[in-house]
Amino acid sequence: MPASRGSIERNLQDFDRAMSEQAPELSSDCQTTAANEECGSAAASTANVRRPRGSALRWPIAAIAWLGLVAISVTSHWTVWIAPSCTLNGDEAGPGFVTKCIANVFNMLCAPGWAIINKLTGNWYMDSVRVATLAASVSWTGWFAGCGVLVAIRRFACGPDAARAKGTQSPVLSLGTANRASRGPSSHTHVQESEPVSPSRRRFLFDGTLGLGCISTLGAGADATLVEPWDLRVTRYDIPIADLPDSLVGLKLVQLSDTHMGPRIPASFIREAVAKAIALSPDIVLLTGDYVHNGPQWIAPAATLFEPLVAPGRVVVGVLGNHDWWAGGERMSEALATIGVRMIDNSRCFFDRASRTLTSDLNSSRQDQLCLCGVGDLKEDRVDFDAALAGVPEFMPRLMLAHRPDTAELPELHSSRPPRIDLMLCGHTHGGQVRLPIIGTPMVPSRYGSKYAAGLVRGPACRVLISRGVGMSILPLRFGVPPEIVEITLTRAPSAPNNPA
Ligand SMILES: [Fe+2]
Repeated sequence: MPASRGSIERNLQDFDRAMSEQAPELSSDCQTTAANEECGSAAASTANVRRPRGSALRWPIAAIAWLGLVAISVTSHWTVWIAPSCTLNGDEAGPGFVTKCIANVFNMLCAPGWAIINKLTGNWYMDSVRVATLAASVSWTGWFAGCGVLVAIRRFACGPDAARAKGTQSPVLSLGTANRASRGPSSHTHVQESEPVSPSRRRFLFDGTLGLGCISTLGAGADATLVEPWDLRVTRYDIPIADLPDSLVGLKLVQLSDTHMGPRIPASFIREAVAKAIALSPDIVLLTGDYVHNGPQWIAPAATLFEPLVAPGRVVVGVLGNHDWWAGGERMSEALATIGVRMIDNSRCFFDRASRTLTSDLNSSRQDQLCLCGVGDLKEDRVDFDAALAGVPEFMPRLMLAHRPDTAELPELHSSRPPRIDLMLCGHTHGGQVRLPIIGTPMVPSRYGSKYAAGLVRGPACRVLISRGVGMSILPLRFGVPPEIVEITLTRAPSAPNNPA
């Protein structure tokens, strides 16, 4: 609209005037030497000679900042990855919540270096101080170089900061001034009108855009590393099951997955997740793997944290995930079995609601049992559907645990007569941990892309319910994908089995 456009132009002219008043030397110098075409270059060379005192300190300050940031990065990494005490002591095992949060932030900032090392060597070497130092050095050099590039772009586009004070201008401004001078006083008005953006306005626009970008990036980064990973939610599902006996209607199950006890996840957070799960008053707790993140040293505290789940009247079953196998699958399985968790990798058991207990043997006289079965991790173990469903009568409802949702796509489940599975419960993909507007979920550890990122989806032979998990895996961040506990209530399906919910 003409009125608003006029007022915007007036405002911008006022702004230019104000900036000129702040830099009187610039105006006067350029006006008095306007007849000289070399005004800009002469002033620029003057600025080179009379550099501000602070510029001499720029490199030493940058070097000290770089060293400090590398030192903090390596120290925080060493604290949580290399030298933590993993004995459960009070509320924590090793470094506490704040220490792990700080380490997670610096780990993300050093992610470029770690990614390069992993790309070149095929390994992470998270337990090496030397590699951590290398990753931090590479990353911070990259960040500093990025800042240098931004400063150079700003200088090229807007002129150096010193220009206002010392009467220097950017190459672009110098050229404009020179042209204006060469055309003489009569052409002055015309040149002013044709100049699209003044340097002060350009600097204002550039700094404003850059500032907004930096604030948005820092805000999103802080949310993704410090807020959202700890925003534990409960997601509820009603799952209709065909032929569900009356005694099992309304049965409540809670799934906990991917707690990843280790350098990234503090014990206090897993304790909170366990307390929340118990508060839901489940009949059955389902554990779908990745109880530890790295190393056998975390197995004992991880198992101890699950102890409150096992109680009279509440049964707990579980399968192992890939991280458990990397730390020592047998040891993890044994530790959980010791506290009373029924491990059902490539096995099954039967839940009796009347006694609220699990049995290994099928009671053929009972028609109201629920089969809980499980298969091993798709890559680190074997997947044996026959063993998992051995002797289970066709009429009996069954829920299957499998760490990786890709298990639902195995050829056995693509056959013309797949085994009956009423619901497969999985973890592993963590919802991709990052979901961006428009783009969606850029990375999901699945051969089927975002199909099995999270939620209730339809597999080739059964419904698959994928938990976003409690902890974090490769990258210590969550954005748009908060951690979750899954609560399931069984209902009776009115029609054929395996109907999508
Ligand atoms: Fe996981």
